Amino acid sequence: MSKILVTGGAGYIGSHTCVELIEAGYNILVIDNFSNSCPEALKRVEQITGKSIAFEQIDIRDANSLEELFSRHQFEAVIHFAGLKAVGESCQIPLEYYQNNVSGTLNLCQTMKAHGCHNLVFSSSATVYGEPASLPITEDFPLSATNPYGRSKLIIEDMMRDLHKSDNNWNILLLRYFNPAGAHPSGLIGEDPNGIPNNLMPYISQVAIGKLEKLQVFGDDYDTVDGTGVRDYIHVVDLAKGHVKALDKLNQKPGCTAYNLGVGSGYSVLQMAAAFAKISGREIPHEIVERRPGDIANCYADPSLAMQALGWQAELGLEAMVEDGWNWQKKNMDGYHTN
Ligand code: UD1
Repeated sequence: MSKILVTGGAGYIGSHTCVELIEAGYNILVIDNFSNSCPEALKRVEQITGKSIAFEQIDIRDANSLEELFSRHQFEAVIHFAGLKAVGESCQIPLEYYQNNVSGTLNLCQTMKAHGCHNLVFSSSATVYGEPASLPITEDFPLSATNPYGRSKLIIEDMMRDLHKSDNNWNILLLRYFNPAGAHPSGLIGEDPNGIPNNLMPYISQVAIGKLEKLQVFGDDYDTVDGTGVRDYIHVVDLAKGHVKALDKLNQKPGCTAYNLGVGSGYSVLQMAAAFAKISGREIPHEIVERRPGDIANCYADPSLAMQALGWQAELGLEAMVEDGWNWQKKNMDGYHTN
């Protein structure tokens, strides 16, 4: 049976995607350097699926190891998650971001090319739309970057488009994620941020469990429903299923195409906090503070292209996202390091 390489398969979106791939019958091999993930996540994937996972600890910056891996295995396609992803950190250590994300992807593509593997699904982000001129966002909107993390995603997307132009044997799907949230309903895998979370959902969840004192709401004077920022939160299981659909699509030789993976509507920060308080039965104390530099008021997808072309749409709503995120948090107070 043909094999799929999953880079960064122990991470938040990667681990959920491994579950869906295995359940859809795919034969996968995972590589990860565990820089922001841990082996326990893969053990949990094995527990959920009842299947053992082929795994190698490889860093995509290490071209020799990739070469060696590809000489031992024949991969039909690669799903590429491995990369650094914190916006704030990317402003502090931009070179690390370019090295991991851009050089790592360059190594991967060179190795794929050398071994005749031309099928790739890339983990992109809605961040490539910069500050959108209008809403909802469609895939043909102009692209721009406002920080090194976003720029690394945009550079990779451009690199992919150039690669496909140079040789149309390549089939590359750029999946632009909106805001992933929630966890697997089993409560066995979920988001496990290092230190204090940057993103809203894990932050609220740690306030609910009592690890953090209160939520700081970054601005309540935006032009939105209640003045707080609105985002398109998408259940991570829906997102994971989008990757299975993307792999199926590669069989149709789609060329290089980008798809929005979002729900198509948004919730504000206060709406998210209220939903979490209601479902968890815990208080979510909050205070309004200054806007966070670089934030935009409103961001949500037009996901209709993914619906038409991939036959994919988000099925889970806010309640499932919050319930599953809370279930994961309750069962794993300290993420994968909980005893
Ligand atoms: C950010 C990144 C995006 C990345 C995504 C990963 C930017 C510009 N974008 O999106 O590239 O792909 O994370 O999920 O940084 N908020 C608070 N208090 C908090 C945390 C967040 O009020 O403690 C607000 C933010 O102002 C925003 C919303 O919650 O309105 C969502 O923030 P966050 O979860 O960080 O995601 P994004 O900024 O949308």
